Amino acid sequence: MQPLSSPALPAPAHVAIIMDGNGRWARMRGLPRTAGHQRGVEAVKGAVEAAGELGVGYLTLFGFSTENWTRPSDEVGELMRLLRFYLRSEVAELHRNNVRLRVIGERDRLARDIADLIGHAEEMTRSNTALNLTIALSYGGQQEIVAAARGLAEDVKEGRVAIGDIDQAMVSSRLFTHDLPDPDLVIRTSGEKRISNFLLWQAAYAELVFLDTLWPDFTRADLEKAIGEFHRRERRFGAVGSQ
Ligand code: IPE
Ligand code: IPE
Ligand code: MG
Repeated sequence: MQPLSSPALPAPAHVAIIMDGNGRWARMRGLPRTAGHQRGVEAVKGAVEAAGELGVGYLTLFGFSTENWTRPSDEVGELMRLLRFYLRSEVAELHRNNVRLRVIGERDRLARDIADLIGHAEEMTRSNTALNLTIALSYGGQQEIVAAARGLAEDVKEGRVAIGDIDQAMVSSRLFTHDLPDPDLVIRTSGEKRISNFLLWQAAYAELVFLDTLWPDFTRADLEKAIGEFHRRERRFGAVGSQ
């Protein structure tokens, strides 16, 4: 058993989580996949609370990928229903807890009422300072980079940007995450060891921690375990290490 993170060590500033395993959680219990997604929403609430308690500044959750639109329409419909439910029932509580909510992804692909709920929630929580919660919805890292490239090409064509001035900072400033720091720690649950198109640019130097826990079973102890593992890593950013 590995020790939990030392309380003396600060939590990483930005933790991002690929919340995977809802379907397998349900299948193991002979339940429909949608039951796993319902329990997954409860795990989101717990993770937000735990992140706040542990002093995480930014928590980014992968809720629905661009590729998830290819799932059967009844599953997509249930995920959108749960998203509506979460936004309607949780935003007031997030606001009370001084949490700022942002949503990243292709908002124009979401239903109009969901996009409106998100817009209101972002506006209401804009000045909150305790935890920056970002939910990635209809999000794909490759699509995000393509959109930034198109915007830059347009600006070059119109003479607003010189090609030689394009650098990492300029590309970063055109991503959905333009006002977020890069993630320090990316956690994926369910034992899968891949990125699945999440924060491809932003996770360039993130530490990756893969947990076997299925997302509906995720608790504060899992977050502490991942943070403990993060503290055992040595981040070198391409330079020479300390040993
Ligand atoms: C994560 O759980 C939720 C979403 C991707 C929306 P999955 O639905 O991917 O669950 P598994 O991977 O099939 O177990
Ligand atoms: C990644 O999980 C997307 C989210 C967690 C929202 P998937 O279940 O869609 O990823 P793959 O298909 O296993 O790579
Ligand atoms: Mg999955």
